[in-house]
Formats: sequence, C-alpha cells, structure tokens
Amino acid sequence: MTTDFPQPTDEALGFSRALDKRIREEMDDAGGWIGFERYMELALYEPGLGYYSGGSTKFGPAGDFVTAPELSGLFGSALADQVAPLLSQLEKPLILELGAGTGTLAADILESLSKTQAPPQYWILELSADLRRRQQSRLSSYGDNVCWLDRLPDQPFEGVILANEVVDALPVSCFIKRANAAFPLGVRLVDGDFAWAEGDSDPRLSEAVELLEASLGYTLPEGFRSEIRLGLSAWIQTLSAVMARGAMLIVDYGLVRREYYHADRNQGTLLCHYKHLAHANPFLYPGLQDIGAWVDFSAVADAAVGADAEVSGFTTQTQFLLESEALRQLSMPSLGQLQGLKTLVLPGEMGERFKLILLSRGLREAELPGRDFRDRL
Ligand SMILES: C[S@@+](CC[C@H](N)C(=O)[O-])C[C@H]1O[C@@H](n2cnc3c(N)ncnc32)[C@H](O)[C@@H]1O
Repeated sequence: MTTDFPQPTDEALGFSRALDKRIREEMDDAGGWIGFERYMELALYEPGLGYYSGGSTKFGPAGDFVTAPELSGLFGSALADQVAPLLSQLEKPLILELGAGTGTLAADILESLSKTQAPPQYWILELSADLRRRQQSRLSSYGDNVCWLDRLPDQPFEGVILANEVVDALPVSCFIKRANAAFPLGVRLVDGDFAWAEGDSDPRLSEAVELLEASLGYTLPEGFRSEIRLGLSAWIQTLSAVMARGAMLIVDYGLVRREYYHADRNQGTLLCHYKHLAHANPFLYPGLQDIGAWVDFSAVADAAVGADAEVSGFTTQTQFLLESEALRQLSMPSLGQLQGLKTLVLPGEMGERFKLILLSRGLREAELPGRDFRDRL
C-alpha cells in the first residue's frame, strides 16, 4: 500500500508509530471501530503527534504542500487591498488570522498595508507549536504589532478574521447511503491495518444528512459516499460570537452544496497530501500527512446566517485575483512569479477550485471584487 510513497525518516516513523498505537488503543476502548471524524481529529490534532500539533515540516519543497501565499506575494497584496476598507470602518484596526502557516500571508498583508497606513494589530491563533515558532521568527520585525493567542479572546472584539486553507482541515464525518439511510464510515483493523468500515447508524449523522437532502431537494442515491462537517456550524458560531463587528474572510478549496453532493461526485472529496503527492488514503503514515476535505460553502453561508452574520460576497480565486488592484499594480513579474501567478489564477489549477466567502456584521460596506456568485450558494 505504501510502496509508491517516499519513506519517512526513522524519527518521523517513530512519531507515526506512536500515533498509530494511540489510535489503536482508542479503537480498542471503543469496541474496535471509530468514526472517521474522530480518526481525522487524532491524525491531525492529537497533542504532540497529530499532523498539525506535531513537528513535521509541512510547507515548501521539504514538506507536503504549498499554499497560495507561498506561491506568490500577489495573494497577500490582494487580501490586504480587500481588508483595508473593512479595517477603515473599525475604531481600532485589527486582524485575527487563524492557522497562519509559515507566517508568509501575515508578512505580505502587513507589508502591503504598511505602505498606506500604520500597520494594524495582527493576532494569530495557531494550533501548531512548530508553525508558531516559524511565524514568530518570520514576523519578528513587527514587534508588538503581532501577537499569538492561545485561544479565542473571551471578550468580543472588532476586527477582520482571516482563514486561508483552515476549514478544509476541520474534521469531517464520512458516510454512505444504504437502504435509504446514511451510515457512518469509520476505521477498523483489517489484517492488522487501518481500513474503512461501516459503523452503526448514528442519529446525529442521520439527522444532518436528512437536513442536507431536504435542502438539496433530492435524496442521495444508494451507495453514495461523501462526508459532512458536523462541527462547521459551531465553529462559525464561535467565531461569530467573538466578532462584535467586522468581517470574516474564508478562503479554501470547495464547492456549493449542489455540486458537492451531485450524484456524480459519489466518492466524496477527501484529499491527503504527503510529500507533494495528492491521494485519497487517510491511513497512510498517520500524523505525517495532511488530511482535508473540500468545503461546502453553502453550509458556511447557512452557518453564518444562523450566527447573525451577513454573507457579503462569494467568488472564485480566479475572479478575485483577476479583478484585484494588486494585479493591476504588478509591474513586469519575473518568470518564477508568473509561474506562481498562473497556478493561483488559472481555472484548471487553483483558480476555480479555491473560493472566497466574505461574512460580515455591522459594516457599511463589505464586498469582494470579481463576479458575485452568492446566488449559487
Ligand atoms: C494548510 S495550512 C494553511 C496555512 C496558511 N493559512 C497559508 O495559507 O499558508 C493550515 C493552517 O491551519 C492551522 N490549523 C489547522 N487546524 C486548525 C484549527 N482547527 N484552528 C486553527 N488553525 C488550524 C495549521 O496549523 C496551519 O497553520
């Protein structure tokens, strides 16, 4: 199963084996089966061992994937142009970035904003201790302007919340439709290895899939496999509760509900990244690979409305970047810069897969450049 993938170092393998053991213990305690949502939570977030809580190199050539800010500074400049008019409507300009990766996006945004105004306060909420260290070193020149939070603030604040490629990492519940009902898919040991296995009917999942079908206006077909992010609504609600006034900009790969749960997309959207190889096996080297699933942007919009926020814009990354002032201002990009730009903008690359949704509360003006696709949500 693992022969086509580069072999991890002995040290990395040691961490993965420790996490593997931890997952097996939990499966044992649970009678031999755990749901995929719990598996994903352990694989990504188990303290000290999970992909995001452990110390593996995630970004760049030695890591597993690259994100938009790592490909081109244009992404951060375009986001800065987007954020500036939102910040100007607030008493004290403040940005809260969730999951800041290497700190590149924060650096690009701060640099862009500093050209026209005093840099805003920039808070980062980062789960990974390793990434937090990298961000601190990357952003040291901004001194007290940047600070790291251990959790969301207790008191509501006014500000702009940014999350690029974070929602895809929130655990999902996988399911299969059978006999007109949704059954959870999870993990069991088969011949000593982790393998997909169906679990007993779960009322929370059944109810969520019924609601999903009601909103789609059709029943998902027999044998249809997909996933649903049961924790998404609570996540948006929690963020919304601390944002007294301001906006939330979520960027990620995703679809609107009708496309996500289209009968043709009957194997779900789970996507793993290990050493720049994208594949669909979440059981490979637990803790050493990224596991994500596409974002249902209609669910994000519903959750926002339920949390008393407004959906102020929804567009594709292609539209957002092509219509950005930052692109118009770009003078003679180098060949390398052009390559990065192509990957970000071209519809066949990241351009159409990645979307931006802008949620806001209490702002006079909040919109995204480019075509407005809110009617598709
Ligand atoms: C794919 S990376 C994206 C990093 C960065 N935003 C970028 O665009 O380069 C995901 C980031 O989100 C963080 N993260 C993962 N799950 C998170 C969660 N539940 N809450 C906050 N941050 C999270 C990771 O540690 C990492 O910094």
